[in-house]
Amino acid sequence: MNSPDRPVAYLDHAATTPIYPEVVDVMAAQMGRLGNASSLHGSGRGARRVVEESRETIAAALGARPSEVVFTSGGTESDNLAIKGFAWARRRVDDRRVRVLSTAVEHHAVLDPLHWLATDERAEVELLPVDSDGRLDLAALEASIAREPESVSLITVMWANNEVGTIQPIEDVVALASPHGIPVHTDAVQALGQVPIDFAASGVDAMTVTGHKIGGPFGVGVLLLRREAELVSLLHGGGQERDVRSGTIDAPAIVGLARATELAVKGQAERAAVLAGLRDDLVRRLREVVPDVIVNGATGEGQRLPGNAHLSFPGCEGDSLLMLLDANGIECSTGSACSAGVPQASHVLLAMGRSDDIARGSLRFSLGHTSTMGDVDRLIEAIGPAVERARAAGVSSSSRASGVRR
Ligand SMILES: Cc1ncc(COP(=O)(O)O)c(C=O)c1O
Repeated sequence: MNSPDRPVAYLDHAATTPIYPEVVDVMAAQMGRLGNASSLHGSGRGARRVVEESRETIAAALGARPSEVVFTSGGTESDNLAIKGFAWARRRVDDRRVRVLSTAVEHHAVLDPLHWLATDERAEVELLPVDSDGRLDLAALEASIAREPESVSLITVMWANNEVGTIQPIEDVVALASPHGIPVHTDAVQALGQVPIDFAASGVDAMTVTGHKIGGPFGVGVLLLRREAELVSLLHGGGQERDVRSGTIDAPAIVGLARATELAVKGQAERAAVLAGLRDDLVRRLREVVPDVIVNGATGEGQRLPGNAHLSFPGCEGDSLLMLLDANGIECSTGSACSAGVPQASHVLLAMGRSDDIARGSLRFSLGHTSTMGDVDRLIEAIGPAVERARAAGVSSSSRASGVRR
């Protein structure tokens, strides 16, 4: 069992990663300063200056122009803004544009607005298939566009998958979309800080990032939005953020986000090498202890997030295994959702062709900037007995799930 003097082995950085102490410092300093960034007097101008400097920092780190940085409350809002905003704006101009193309493995912050558009707005949403590694089937995308290019309002494809870590071929998606003038949005929430990201070079029209996955604060994010892009806003009010996202600007959160973005980008290559080394070690040693474990997601060079290991344990219920590890001070995630107390298989793994049982017997271990070999050692020490107990309990054992889709 876990003991109070033994620190937790935190292997859930894809859910949220610890905030950098210097981010806390810059935020605390800004919280002590007076001023609404929209006020014209000296205090307001002081807050505005800080926000604009942060915007410049973020833009420079992500290969964007400062005017392309739209501050939001995080990944969920940025995804909703891009998807509904583009779909509405493009359909207003041409009511034939009813189709929105995406993949079957998106995060719920993308899937649920798509579902809403399909049910409440009569949009035609196509969730394109992926291969057994979770990578978008580009031929299916090409065929779907070719069927009727003028009816597509938007393509939204995540940069990297939050469950299995597979990186999507965003450049190829842009190459297929751009001859038809179809805007592309990408959710880069999991990719930022793990792989190199350059907004301008990627060719996408909009990109979602969020603070709490990169060592910044919760409740703040960005939608990078090309200057010429036309979006209908979700929030109407004071006209802040190019009139795309009204609401009083949260200067302390934005200062923290800017510092975290700088740290995430500056240390990316070095961190990626360390994390990939730890992750490979984790998988290799875990295979020695549990030889029939299945590794999910792409494995090729540059095809997977360096901090992600996603594994299926045949004969186990993922939630039972998670609770057994948690009792030993090891924190990870199943990535599946729980509906009315019944664990559901992950839509990502099902789209990759995994069976329901295998999908439900899966765990995600995700590493980040505070991860150490000690965390991996703790997991390897505990996993064998935990798998044995979970198998003995059987796949039908009752389990507790968080019900939160991260
Ligand atoms: C891929 C992806 N998109 C969007 C989100 C939502 O971001 P936020 O928590 O900032 O709303 C998450 C969070 O888990 C995510 O992993």
